[in-house]
Amino acid sequence: MKFDRAAGQNPIDQLHVVGHPLDRIDGRLKTTGTAPYAYERHDVVPHQAYGYIIGSAFAKGRITRMDVAHAKAAPGVLAIVTTLDMPALKNGPMNTAKLFGGPDITHYHQATAIVVAETFEQARAAAALIETEYDHDEGQFDLKQAQHAARPVQGANGSRADRVGDFERAFSASATRLDETYTTPDQTHAMMEPHATLAAWEGEKLTLWTSNQMIAWNRRDIATALGLSKENVRVDSPYIGGGFGGKLFLRSDAVLAALGAKAAGRPVKVALTRPFIMNNTTHRSATIQRIRIGTDRDGRITAIAHESTSGNLPHGRPEAAIDQTKLLYAGANRLTAMRLAVLDLPEGNAMRAPGEASGLMALEIAMDEMAERLRMDPVRFRILNDTQVDPEKLGRPFSQRHLVECLEHGAEKFGWSRRNPRPASVREGEWLIGMGVAAGFRNNLLTKSGARVRLDSQGIVTVETDMTDIGTGTYTILAQTAAEMMGVCIDQVRVILGDSDFPVSAGSGGQWGANNSAAGVYAACVKLRENVAEKLGLPPAEAQFSGGNVHVGNSVFPLGQAAHESELVAEDTIEYADVDKRYQQSTFASHFVEVGVNGFTGEVRIRRMLAVCSAGRILNPKTARSQVIGAMTMGAGAALMEELAVDTRRGFFVNHDLAGYEVPVHADIPHQDVIFLDEVDPLSSPMKAKGVGELGLCGVAAAIANAVYNATGVRVRDYPVTLDKHLAHLPRMT
Ligand code: MOS
Repeated sequence: MKFDRAAGQNPIDQLHVVGHPLDRIDGRLKTTGTAPYAYERHDVVPHQAYGYIIGSAFAKGRITRMDVAHAKAAPGVLAIVTTLDMPALKNGPMNTAKLFGGPDITHYHQATAIVVAETFEQARAAAALIETEYDHDEGQFDLKQAQHAARPVQGANGSRADRVGDFERAFSASATRLDETYTTPDQTHAMMEPHATLAAWEGEKLTLWTSNQMIAWNRRDIATALGLSKENVRVDSPYIGGGFGGKLFLRSDAVLAALGAKAAGRPVKVALTRPFIMNNTTHRSATIQRIRIGTDRDGRITAIAHESTSGNLPHGRPEAAIDQTKLLYAGANRLTAMRLAVLDLPEGNAMRAPGEASGLMALEIAMDEMAERLRMDPVRFRILNDTQVDPEKLGRPFSQRHLVECLEHGAEKFGWSRRNPRPASVREGEWLIGMGVAAGFRNNLLTKSGARVRLDSQGIVTVETDMTDIGTGTYTILAQTAAEMMGVCIDQVRVILGDSDFPVSAGSGGQWGANNSAAGVYAACVKLRENVAEKLGLPPAEAQFSGGNVHVGNSVFPLGQAAHESELVAEDTIEYADVDKRYQQSTFASHFVEVGVNGFTGEVRIRRMLAVCSAGRILNPKTARSQVIGAMTMGAGAALMEELAVDTRRGFFVNHDLAGYEVPVHADIPHQDVIFLDEVDPLSSPMKAKGVGELGLCGVAAAIANAVYNATGVRVRDYPVTLDKHLAHLPRMT
């Protein structure tokens, strides 16, 4: 189905099932521990052996010798494959760091060998007996030092920066100015389920039971790496214990499970250990961001510049922290630019809201600082600088943009008028109290997505697609979509996901999953409805689907009757024309936060959080709310605690476990509210929906940092806002 113009009225608009806060259909499996995750696929293939991966203990150089004799002789060992046993494997387009093969080491904990044994303990014990010798090179591990050698990343028009108007002139002529630099640290995804794969060969055919967000990418990339044809690879990933972008791409668990299984002649399963994940897989790169804003006397932005520097391995991508600044606020004179430094740290890559999450951490403090300089309320300042068109391409409208409504509604619900604009002026005993606000912004990406739907004689509808559910609620919203389209209740629908034998979907990434994969199911259901009508000899345009029946005029047929002779199967893919070129498609939010800061210890305690989101139709308010509160929690981590500590001499992340890398726990998050504006966006798809999974994170950290400033009067521009950064400057407590 081609989607090339605003959606009209369609069966989804009935909202009999879609739009309701239904429980997850996979909830019972999850809460009873019976959903089979990759490492628990005990029953899919017999004689499973265990693989244990080791990685380089240095960051850069080459391995000169690996002695595996002792390891091979250890109890239970079935096979060992080392990186010296083969040439460097070919990367798929999504992997910057080398996955395996050859002597060259480009980052700490690059995989160097897999040991396969009868038990996990035997594999781990044997791995410790491998002796490795190497020559190591000097590397660059310090972004602050490397930034001076960073090279410009080409802008959209091939230049060193994207420009509109004359930023420098407008900035120097502006009545009020800000020029500040903000930094964000390296972060890790810290999903619950580690990367894990069970691999089995049948001749040339490879099956991977794995944990991956993007089935088709993973299938293509493992085929490339191992020199297989895609048809000989099957990937299955029905349950995923979190990904956050860390499982978008092929990683060492899948590659080495496959190589280990080949060498051992047995199925092999591998889970990356937690300390290995942080340095072997990807992370969100640190940034150094300079922001300049100039306004006229009334507080209207006349000049805005956002320049960001990040680091990565050679050929790696920058952290696109400037993206939101291209679209969020008005201003005639604009400059955005990125610089990229070569660092020999592990690969920087996508983590939940890549670009915007880091960019808004800086931009939305800058907006707060600017409002203060203007003596203007920060909510007012943002509303004053709203734009209803793409500010870089003025003729181009947004498909929908309700940022102002998010800010106004949020301010009212949160009690923003009670905020004292003078910092450090509200106290409760030994606690300094503050409120902060930030805008949230994340683009809505349209990407084609396919699905197959089956109807049996009992009227049961089965959805099959390689779409994944990474904890987001995909099973449930796809069941709701099929139920709405076929006029059945949700327990008449089965959803099977994550299998590369099924039609290729959008996958889970970039908050594009919900809208696009549901639209794919919608498209397949439109075809199935036609098939049903045809089978029953009814005019398709007049057939109504409801209550498990098909109605035409006064005639009623049970839906299953159409599949009486044989099952009906329909398949289709939603494909988009240029609706996202003609209209900028984005999602918007406001975040409001109240904190207490202990006046003696500097400890920060979040008291209340509110997000108001504008994201088109909300397919399921319960699963969407869970997405947003999870994201707000992640934002609390980003604001107050999360930071991969870089050893700048030896080149690795030191706090590579969940004891050293702190994420929020329940006690850190006392109260959260989420409000969705009641809206539909007919330009996003026939579902009229958009994503919220990343929007919920965008802006949160800055709202917290702004609340801390309002409490203390100490401006911290270096995340995370830990107490050591403001303790010495807190107001005197008397
Ligand atoms: Mo997302 S960072 O594209 O999973």
